[in-house]
Amino acid sequence: MKSFNPPIRTLMGPGPSDVHPRILSAMARPTIGHLDPAFVGMMNETKEGLKSIFKTENELTMPVSAPGSAGMETCFANLVEPGDKVVVCINGVFGMRMQENITRFGGVAVVVEDDWGTAVSLDKVEQALKDNTDAKILAFVHAETSTGARSDAKALCKIAHDNDCITIVDAVTSLGGCELRVDEWEIDAIYSGTQKCLSAMPGISPVSFNERALTKVKNRKKP
Ligand SMILES: Cc1ncc(COP(=O)(O)O)c(C=O)c1O
Repeated sequence: MKSFNPPIRTLMGPGPSDVHPRILSAMARPTIGHLDPAFVGMMNETKEGLKSIFKTENELTMPVSAPGSAGMETCFANLVEPGDKVVVCINGVFGMRMQENITRFGGVAVVVEDDWGTAVSLDKVEQALKDNTDAKILAFVHAETSTGARSDAKALCKIAHDNDCITIVDAVTSLGGCELRVDEWEIDAIYSGTQKCLSAMPGISPVSFNERALTKVKNRKKP
């Protein structure tokens, strides 16, 4: 097998983005064990950095060692129990992936559809939650990469909480690219990716759960 020398490109798409040379050179440093005190120190610093960009004090804020899709799966696997009703907003490709996660984990997806290229309709979400008072979770994509449409995450979280639902928010394309305030907007579970607005290498998914989300995890009947 020959060594792979990727051509130099200027990446202009919606991710992966060009990675800063400082990050690339860090990746050439030696591997250490995950129990090495030096690793623990670096991980603690990384978690603090993630809390800062998510604008959260959530203790459970960490990088999942896999791409954004694994961050998505982390949220749905932990928060959706079989039979849970989840209102999911679909206005592009990634809302559809959320729907797939819900059904794979045994949840019941109630779909709120909007045209591709438009933001999630607050009125439609409110109506869906009024029509499904047993819904436990509202899931939506903050910035739909497939079209560039950004939805009003703050307002959607308020509607969810007013209707006794917790929120799962996809911030793969929004984190670092537009306003995102996890604590102030009371986002309960959120995941992102490093390869877009953070301009780091692909393959890491920052994830954060607040106390409300953790309580749901701790009270699960099925492990
Ligand atoms: C909004 C959104 N969610 C999820 C994903 C999946 O992330 P990944 O490709 O890192 O698995 C992407 C990737 O483009 C995305 O844009």
